[in-house]
Amino acid sequence: MPSSVMPTSSPSGGPEPTAAISTVGLRKSYGDNVVLDGIDLRIPAGSVFALLGPNGAGKTTAVKILSTLITADGGQSQVAGHDVVADPQAVRAAIGVTGQFSAVDGLITGEENMLLMADLHHLTRAEGRRVTAELLERFDLVEAAKKPASTYSGGMKRRLDIAMTLVGAPRIIFLDEPTTGLDPRSRHNMWQIIRELVSDGVTVFLTTQYLEEADELADRIAVLNNGKIAAEGTAEELKRLIPGGHVRLRFTDPAAYQSAAAVLREVTLPHARLRSRGGTPIDEALALQIPSDGTQRELRSLLDWLDSAGIEADELTVHTPDLDDVFFALTGPTTATGTAPTTVTGTVPNQPKENAR
Ligand SMILES: Nc1ncnc2c1ncn2[C@@H]1O[C@H](COP(=O)(O)OP(=O)(O)OP(=O)(O)O)[C@@H](O)[C@H]1O
Ligand SMILES: [Mg+2]
Repeated sequence: MPSSVMPTSSPSGGPEPTAAISTVGLRKSYGDNVVLDGIDLRIPAGSVFALLGPNGAGKTTAVKILSTLITADGGQSQVAGHDVVADPQAVRAAIGVTGQFSAVDGLITGEENMLLMADLHHLTRAEGRRVTAELLERFDLVEAAKKPASTYSGGMKRRLDIAMTLVGAPRIIFLDEPTTGLDPRSRHNMWQIIRELVSDGVTVFLTTQYLEEADELADRIAVLNNGKIAAEGTAEELKRLIPGGHVRLRFTDPAAYQSAAAVLREVTLPHARLRSRGGTPIDEALALQIPSDGTQRELRSLLDWLDSAGIEADELTVHTPDLDDVFFALTGPTTATGTAPTTVTGTVPNQPKENAR
């Protein structure tokens, strides 16, 4: 996506809010593998920022650099007003990090894990016990507190992980895929916890594979691809970057589907893919897609046109772009060459609008 179409939104008027996290020209390579190729970020205090990107895009690498676990090859980063290279101790004092892989020690109990964190944060014994009890309660781990953490389910371990991150009451937290592997209820509970943190003024830097999660939680979202920020903005801004929605027609009768496809000149169907996401061959899904902005006026003319063409689908759904579309459009294989992202559609030979009166 050329930078010219990236949203350059800035707060309308007024002073810029203080940045909790900022990076300029951040670079990191492993051998020939250029992971971060000049990343600029500015994350206002008290906001949720979501970093998206395919596996291996460099999300964890960015988190590790900003949380002082590894050093960058170039560029500058400030976290909580401190330079990560010049003053890593001050950065560490201000942040909490929940890594992609659990920091929980399975051999000791959940409570002991928490108390260990309290010790690391130099809390007094009484204070450590108080904070531990409070967090175990908040994360619904009181019952499990005295059991070895190795006996916890994945969701319980993840909750314990985040509870441990909060022991030092950090003002900035990094959550690297906090809900991966959680069931829908646990995920929603985690979202609630994150929202509560934010309402207390905490800044959250989140990486996620779940676009819905970014949509739900993040004030701003950046999509990392091929070492660069492919786009950055609010969920709504990102959705506006990609072509409009479509109407999906699904057929149960292959013959009806074939004739509709013929009318729609869908000649490449056997190899066409419904969407790059599902990878379902379009002929198996018996579905066709027609570009449409989903407005009442366009739908009416489309329906008129389908009637006049004798096409009767068993199901018609209107699809407006969501973050998944953005993700696939920006991180698809064709984006590296700068060509338009792949979105699959059937084209109506004569635009419905023209056919409709
Ligand atoms: N210590 C290392 N040595 C060599 N290469 C590394 C190292 N750490 C990460 N990489 C490489 O850097 C790239 C980015 O990895 P990173 O873990 O940051 O990706 P990610 O976006 O977090 O991916 P995922 O979604 O799978 O967690 C990958 O190609 C990875 O193989
Ligand atoms: Mg990662």
